[in-house]
Amino acid sequence: MQITFDVDQQLFHLKNDQISYIMGIEKEKYLVHRYFGPALSSYHQVNALQLIDRGFNTNPDCSDRSFSLNTLPLETSTQGSLDYRIPNYQFRNKQGYRVTAFEYAGYQILPEKPKLTGLPSLSSENTQTLEITLEDRQQNLRMHLRYTLFEKLSVISRNVVYENLGTDAVYLEIAGSMMVDFPSANYDLLTLNGAHTNEANLSRQALHSGIQRIDSNRGTSSPQHLPFIALADKQANEDQGTVIGAQLIYSGNFVAQVEVEQYGSSRLQMGINPDTFEWKLAPNESFVTPEAVLNYSTAGLNGLSQTFHTLYQKHLVPTYWQNQPRPILLNTWEGNYFSFHEDELLIQAKEAKNLGIELFVLDDGWFASRNDDTQALGDWQVNQEKLPNGINGLAEKIHNMGLLFGLWFEPEMISKNSQLFSQHPDWPLQLPDYPMTEGRCQLVLDLSKVEIQDFLIAIFDEYLKDGAIDYIKWDMNRHLTEVGNQTLPFDQQKEISHRYVLGLYRVLETITKRYPKVLFENCSSGGGRFDPGMMAYMPQTWASDNSDAFCRTKIQTGFSYLFPPVMMGAHVSDVPNHQVGRITPLTTRGNVAMSGNFGYELDIKKQSAEALEEIKEQIAYYKDKRDLIQFGKFYRLLTPNEHGACAWLFVNDHEALVVYSHGLAQPAQPLAYLKTKYLDQTAFYQNTVTKEVFSGSELNHAGMLIPRIKGDFESFALHFKKI
Ligand code: DGJ
Repeated sequence: MQITFDVDQQLFHLKNDQISYIMGIEKEKYLVHRYFGPALSSYHQVNALQLIDRGFNTNPDCSDRSFSLNTLPLETSTQGSLDYRIPNYQFRNKQGYRVTAFEYAGYQILPEKPKLTGLPSLSSENTQTLEITLEDRQQNLRMHLRYTLFEKLSVISRNVVYENLGTDAVYLEIAGSMMVDFPSANYDLLTLNGAHTNEANLSRQALHSGIQRIDSNRGTSSPQHLPFIALADKQANEDQGTVIGAQLIYSGNFVAQVEVEQYGSSRLQMGINPDTFEWKLAPNESFVTPEAVLNYSTAGLNGLSQTFHTLYQKHLVPTYWQNQPRPILLNTWEGNYFSFHEDELLIQAKEAKNLGIELFVLDDGWFASRNDDTQALGDWQVNQEKLPNGINGLAEKIHNMGLLFGLWFEPEMISKNSQLFSQHPDWPLQLPDYPMTEGRCQLVLDLSKVEIQDFLIAIFDEYLKDGAIDYIKWDMNRHLTEVGNQTLPFDQQKEISHRYVLGLYRVLETITKRYPKVLFENCSSGGGRFDPGMMAYMPQTWASDNSDAFCRTKIQTGFSYLFPPVMMGAHVSDVPNHQVGRITPLTTRGNVAMSGNFGYELDIKKQSAEALEEIKEQIAYYKDKRDLIQFGKFYRLLTPNEHGACAWLFVNDHEALVVYSHGLAQPAQPLAYLKTKYLDQTAFYQNTVTKEVFSGSELNHAGMLIPRIKGDFESFALHFKKI
């Protein structure tokens, strides 16, 4: 791994065993993109820049009409003078002028990857970082473009620090994190889109002339679009071909877009969504953007996922949880909703313990008058009628049974019908003279305010200081409205969306550092804020409020493009399923849920003796394979087709697990062989049930016959030991 600057050629080359990223300085001023792809042993500009005198071009120097920033591949850009493509940054000065002229001013290789003030970022072990500085001399503005290279990973991460060294305040209207110009537009565009209970659907469309864009303006990264965008070669599929994926380590409003311009090149750009953003930069202030990850795969989408999974496991999630096995849990939500009493909970917990469950999680409904979802958010005092011995009393009894104890919170919210609201009516986001819009009968606390952040930190201190709680589910069930306040002046109102996210990160940073061994599960009505920003603090996310096993194969497949199974909460729930009314076999519910962070979310008391026996077996099975599932490699063998058939592979150096889910039964079931593709070609594998032995190459390439399956939603799991 190395970063070099070739003075003669004026080229930066960031290179590890997997990739090269190359930039040049043209005319001593302009930072130009030259190459991103498989590692190059050396580079002598065989892909020369195309310098053509074209009509309607803008030129910095009229004596050289072939040189135009409107057509050159750039590393960053603005609008207003030389380039008309989508900008990565935009300043406005006090006169309202938007033109700047940033030029190359120098570079340094940093001794270590800088932490991003107030923002989550990838850790610095085994990395090298290049910082290139550009300067606008007229207004004394600077920007530092940072590029980090990771050992053995086909990743470049980028972020920018925008700095005002002038004497007047300026406004950052656009503060992009990353922009790359690729010489071709012959790609498909991939994004992950969805809705509540229908998250992470992969969409694939051909790039076309103009701008294709996804974004969020909801205050969170959102289930509508994940902060992810990829360009894939037309022939690229799960297992082969080039895919360039980008993700933003950010949990608020973002934009990810690509422009196919007039001569057939494409510009990829990503950052905070400028529609809901502006930042006032006073003299000597700087603004740090979220980090963006650029991931280059030559091994198709599975290759892309492998890199994201490894990167996030090693460089993103809290250190303590990187290799820490996750407990099997019972969550009370779908089994109890708001109605429970300590006596019943203890009966459920006892039964859960008998079945082999390890963590008992009390979901919504445990505090104040929270008997339905219209009230009491913010009043985080225990409901004595339901829990006469308080949280610590309940936790103690659960602990005495040999179980861990977890508790639900929705800290960012306040119900109008709450004591907190009557004490602090000014705490929710709001604008004078306009009604406060409710969602699920609740309002959003203005987390941009330090006082409110401190209030939340104090709540968690109160609950976590005694060590009674081992797990917190951090929920967030509506998006932001009336984003404004009377604290900041009129010219800083557009800072509030971002300040909200910074406030949230401050709270999370403080409490997760203070209580590193508490397992935090991220949730926003399921996977509504499943992004790498949140994962920096909470190593797992409840992937969807839709717990139907058939729907879950699609949703978990979708999230698996970015996150490994160990980051995905998945539970066996009751049938008919509470979200879609579907009846699926318990075996399939088990197989699908154990392909993530396994748990149950049903009323154990209502299960038949036969079902309880099967649950016990599922739990024992999962415990036996936990290390493989949670820390092995994960591959998609079959992504859900029109009948919903789906197959996943978990593999490590010792064993492998294939989970096949058939979806809808078909009258004339086609002949199909399931190829494991990623087992060790040189090894032999024994089916641990039938004891049959096959070579890895045979399983990979000849594949196993998918048996005739009658009935909908059947599934099977096959476990192999490497011998
Ligand atoms: C939404 C979550 O996704 C559910 O799992 C549950 O915790 C409810 N909120 C509780 O209100």
